[in-house]
Formats: sequence, structure tokens, C-alpha cells
Amino acid sequence: CALVGVSTTAMAGPILDDIVESGELRVCFDAGYMPFEMKSKNGAYIGFDIDLGKLMARQMGVKYVPVNTAWDGIIPTLLTGKCHMINAGMTINAQRNMRVNFSDPYIVIGQSILLNPKLKGEVTSYRDLNNSKYTIATKLGTTGEQASKRMISSAKMNVFETQADAALEVANGKADALVYDMPFNAIYAAQNAGKVVHLEQPFTYEPLGWAVAQGDMDMLNFLNNFLRQVKGDGTYDRIYDKWFKS
Ligand code: ARG
Repeated sequence: CALVGVSTTAMAGPILDDIVESGELRVCFDAGYMPFEMKSKNGAYIGFDIDLGKLMARQMGVKYVPVNTAWDGIIPTLLTGKCHMINAGMTINAQRNMRVNFSDPYIVIGQSILLNPKLKGEVTSYRDLNNSKYTIATKLGTTGEQASKRMISSAKMNVFETQADAALEVANGKADALVYDMPFNAIYAAQNAGKVVHLEQPFTYEPLGWAVAQGDMDMLNFLNNFLRQVKGDGTYDRIYDKWFKS
């Protein structure tokens, strides 16, 4: 069998075959991560990832099916076959790459810091936070948590299930700083002017990719060629501008 590795997942055969047979592209994400995936007031999922996912489904000729999943369980959800791919602003890193395959990066971001305004001027980079007198808020299972443990290890850390709760800790002064993906922090700071200060210089290098189960090169090949096409023909820029330049 050429599909070594697929047997470890719940997907019966090649991912693309399952998509075609079911007539659905099921996409895992974790809503609340601005501007990539949010739940709108009327309950619809919107954002950069959602628009790209819908476009993939349209090009495959199948229905786009959103699978909103808690971040902490998103890789297990993929690996048990509940979705065909993760499109959720996932940072490509070695640890995760041991469990899933990644497409080429569709955007590169980094960690930045949202600061409680009382620390404005006193803390000017992540290095200043590396002190036991400070408390950092981060989101469970994210590269924000990993970067905090690795680079700001002297600070206290409170880990939250959602980025909204983690950011709120900083806004209400229970934590000194949020360490999280720069695009989220930029939007949160714009929406909460006066309540947080954004140190917007990213201090990690994080390519974000689409994750699929290991052992299936066909789905990866589709994703990488999809990405090259939308980047080349202007579609990517149009969707990017819609979510990142407003
Ligand atoms: N890029 C970060 C990571 O990979 C955070 C992504 C969070 N995404 C989300 N949909 N909530 O850990």
C-alpha cells in the first residue's frame, strides 16, 4: 500500500477521495483568533482563514464545512478524521511537524506583547518581562505559551483556554502582559484603546501553514498549488487586504 501512515488515522483512504465522496471539505479551526477566524453576531464564521477555506472548497467542487474546535484538541481532532485539514493560523514547528504535515506557509507572523498601560515605558520588550515580578497571560497549547516558557521563563504565567480571556486579564490588570500572535494583538489593541499597549515588534519567526494527516502527499500537493495560484493571481492579496487592512 502506497499510503503508509494513513492507517493510523480514521480516514479510510486518500484525503482527496474522502472529500470528493462526501462532497465536503471539513475544515478545523478555533474561532476567536482575529482576523483569521471569528464568529460573527449572526453566528457565521468569518475571517482570513475562512475565506481561503471556502475558496479551496469551491475549487474542489465541494461544500465548505466549518469544524470549530478548541485549540488544545485541534490536532487530535484532525488525526481522528473529524476534519480533513486544519486551517487555523497554525505555526509550523518541529514539534507539531512530528505529528502532522504542513503546506507551505501562507503567511508569516511572530509573537508580540500586549501590555497593561501601567507598564508603559517600564517594559519595552519581552526581555524586560523576564522577571518574577511580572505575570504573563497566554493561551493553552499555543506558540505564545511555548515562547513564554522558553524566552520569558522567570515571569509567572497564567494559561487560558481562549485568547479573549487571556487578553482580558491584561486589560483588567490581573496580568501584566499577553504573549500572542501579532495580528491578534494589533486588532485587540485597536479595539481596546487605552486599556492595553501593543509592543508590536514580533520577537519570534512563525510561518503559518495548513496541517493535514501524515502520509498523504496528494492533499498537500493540492494545497501548495492552490496557494501558489491564489498568490500569483491576486486573489490572496484581495482577501488579505480585506482582513488585514481595515
Ligand atoms: N499561531 C499560534 C500557534 O500556532 C496561535 C494560533 C491560534 N489559532 C487559533 N485559531 N486560535 O500556536
